Amino acid sequence: MEDFITLYVTDLKGVRHEIQAPTDMGLNLMEAMKANELPVKATCGGMAMCATCNICVKSDHPLPEMSEDEEDMLDEAFVLDIDGSRLSCQIPVSSEIDGLEVVLGSLTDPEE
Ligand code: FES
Repeated sequence: MEDFITLYVTDLKGVRHEIQAPTDMGLNLMEAMKANELPVKATCGGMAMCATCNICVKSDHPLPEMSEDEEDMLDEAFVLDIDGSRLSCQIPVSSEIDGLEVVLGSLTDPEE
């Protein structure tokens, strides 16, 4: 199991899910959440072009810096100022984020 990390994702209904994600498959957080059947719209498929994979990071993990594309997209979606706002597709699944705690953002809702 050492190539797996554990992530905690609270969905839009407020239910907290514990998911496992492999660190050796080049996945990003959006893909890991989808692979665990969490409802994440992610319309653009991980290109930092839609903001429908937005999350709020609640824990204190070292995350990669935001790219300009990510920042622009969150800005356009009016969620940049919300604490811990990120695009989950821009966060690689690695051992550095083991135990990460996130909450799905309002734009991720596939029913909307
Ligand atoms: S999936 Fe579109 S920005 Fe992340």
